[in-house]
Amino acid sequence: MSGNESVAAMLRGFCCAVVTGGSSGIGRAVISRMAQYAPDVPVFNLSRTMAAGPPIHPRLTHLACDLTQATAIEEVAVRLRTLMPREGRMLLVNNSGFGSYGAFPDPGVGRNLEMIDLNVRAIVHLTGLLWPELQARGGVIVNVASLAGYQPTPLMSTYAATKAFVLNWSVALDAEARPHGLRCLAVCPGPVSTNFSRAAGFATSTGLGGQTAEACADEILDAMEGEAIERVTGLRNRLLSVISARLPKAWAAAVGLRMIRRLRLDRLLRRDT
Ligand SMILES: NC(=O)c1ccc[n+]([C@@H]2O[C@H](COP(=O)([O-])OP(=O)(O)OC[C@H]3O[C@@H](n4cnc5c(N)ncnc54)[C@H](OP(=O)(O)O)[C@@H]3O)[C@@H](O)[C@H]2O)c1
Repeated sequence: MSGNESVAAMLRGFCCAVVTGGSSGIGRAVISRMAQYAPDVPVFNLSRTMAAGPPIHPRLTHLACDLTQATAIEEVAVRLRTLMPREGRMLLVNNSGFGSYGAFPDPGVGRNLEMIDLNVRAIVHLTGLLWPELQARGGVIVNVASLAGYQPTPLMSTYAATKAFVLNWSVALDAEARPHGLRCLAVCPGPVSTNFSRAAGFATSTGLGGQTAEACADEILDAMEGEAIERVTGLRNRLLSVISARLPKAWAAAVGLRMIRRLRLDRLLRRDT
């Protein structure tokens, strides 16, 4: 079986996919790949706005939802239950998230709390509400963490800590879930060219380069095919994660602060943030 055929077979093994933040960036690229490899599998995109441009998937349903709001998550879970096929393995991709840049509490305590609500609380809440189905039917949960989750990261302290939560929570959940035919995979991208920089308050690209959203999506599918519990996307990022995870935390934070300051990212911030 060729690589593409095995990815298609793996994706066709799901009765449906629930993807948060499928309107842009990595989530959108995952949905586009699903359209390419398994167009018959229905996909539900949970995000505030619909993907711009022509439809990216023939069986895509957009469920408008602000995942920072607990009541919105409860409502969307009820809707999902009425719309999802009643049987079959499920794919849940918890991808919605955003970051910020600046010395705490910039860009504001409220924005930090919103980040925790979206990057942490929403994942636990949505997964918890869908847990009875996931546990009974089996499947895969993909949680999008970050390379930043491997070390304390000054000037991105709250963001990196939310992603450390996602990473550790996913690995622990996997251990509990495996006996039920359910897997949990933490995906940790480094820089990816998406709307992420804009949402983080930058006026332009940070110039840190990185992967395309499509390359990142391909690595997510590749990791789903294997038995991995965590996958750092990109070879360079994998090497960095190995080093970061082994450094004493205080040392990693001090060196990180010096390196990030040297990038002078604050000159790229939008003035309205
Ligand atoms: N790009 C990177 O460099 C990078 C690196 C490491 C990890 N990541 C992680 O990858 C994930 C996807 O980010 P991305 O790079 O693809 O950025 P993106 O293009 O900005 O996508 C973020 C997605 O999250 C959704 N979202 C934002 N606020 C939301 C809310 N309140 N409720 C529901 N959905 C919301 C957005 O949709 P709406 O605006 O329509 O709601 C959008 O579809 C995030 O978890 C991010 O932390 C990104």
